[in-house]
Amino acid sequence: MEKKGSFVAVGVGMTLGAHICPLSRSYIEHADIVFCSLSDSYVEEWVMTMNSEVRSLQSFYAVGKDRRDTYKEMVAAMMTEVRAGKNVVGAFYGHPGVFALAPHKVIAIARDEGFQAHMEPGISAEDCLYADMGLDPGTNGCIHYEANQFLMNKKCLDTSALLILWQVGMVGDRRHQEFESHKKYRHLLMQSLMAFYPADHRVALYEAAVLPIDEVRIEWLPLKNVGDAKIHQHTTMVIPPGSEKQTDTAFLTKLNELDSL
Ligand SMILES: C[S@@+](CC[C@H](N)C(=O)[O-])C[C@H]1O[C@@H](n2cnc3c(N)ncnc32)[C@H](O)[C@@H]1O
Repeated sequence: MEKKGSFVAVGVGMTLGAHICPLSRSYIEHADIVFCSLSDSYVEEWVMTMNSEVRSLQSFYAVGKDRRDTYKEMVAAMMTEVRAGKNVVGAFYGHPGVFALAPHKVIAIARDEGFQAHMEPGISAEDCLYADMGLDPGTNGCIHYEANQFLMNKKCLDTSALLILWQVGMVGDRRHQEFESHKKYRHLLMQSLMAFYPADHRVALYEAAVLPIDEVRIEWLPLKNVGDAKIHQHTTMVIPPGSEKQTDTAFLTKLNELDSL
C-alpha cells in the first residue's frame, strides 16, 4: 500500500512568470509544503504568492561548503516532510530534471520508500537557447556536457554536431565549492576545446532572461578569447559544428542493397 506523503518536482521555467505550466502551478498551489531552489529572489517571492508554506533551499548553499553536502541536506529536508505524510512540492528553476541532482534523488528515495513521487517538466535553459539563438538540435545533432565532465573524462567528440557546455562558470572546481571559475581553469577548458576546434572558431556565451526586463546575452567570440571572457554561474557555452558531416558510404551501400530487393 502506498504511504501517505508524496513528492512532485516541478520546473518554473527560466523567465519569471512566463514559463510555468498550469499543472506545475496547480501542484504548487495545492501542496502542503513547497521547497524551492530558484535563480533569483524575485522568482522566490513570486512562488510565495502561490502558497503560504514556501521554504527556500538556497540557505543550504554556503561559500566554502562542498555542494555535494548542500544537495544531501536539501534532499534530507524534503524527505523529512514526505516521511511526515505531507504532500511536498520541490519547485526548481528551468526543468527540474536537467542538470539538477536533488529532484532526481528525492524521487528515487521517495519511491524506494513506497511514497508516490514524480516529476513535471519545465522550460530549461536549453529550450530558451534554441529559441533565442535560432538553433535546432536536429540540424546537425547536439551534444551536451557538464563542463567539468567534458574536461575530466576522455572523450570522443563528434565536432560535426552542435556542442552545448553547461556549468562553464564552475569549470575546474573539483572540491565543488566555488561559485565562479578561476581564469586558469577557463584557459584549460579553452585549450581542451582547441584540441578539437580551430582557435578562431566562433563560440557563444549564452544567458537566458531571468527577469522579464533582462537582456538575453548572446556573445559571439573566437574560442581563443574564452579564457579571458566574463563567465557567470548562469552562463552556458554554445559551440557550433567545426566540421562537415561525413556520409557513411558503407551504410548507404547496405541501404541501397535493401532497397533493390
Ligand atoms: C545546475 S544547472 C540547472 C539547469 C536548469 N535545471 C535548467 O533546466 O536549465 C545550472 C546551469 O544551467 C545553465 N543556466 C542556468 N541559468 C541559465 C541562464 N539564465 N541562461 C543560460 N544558461 C543558464 C548554466 O549552464 C548553469 O551553469
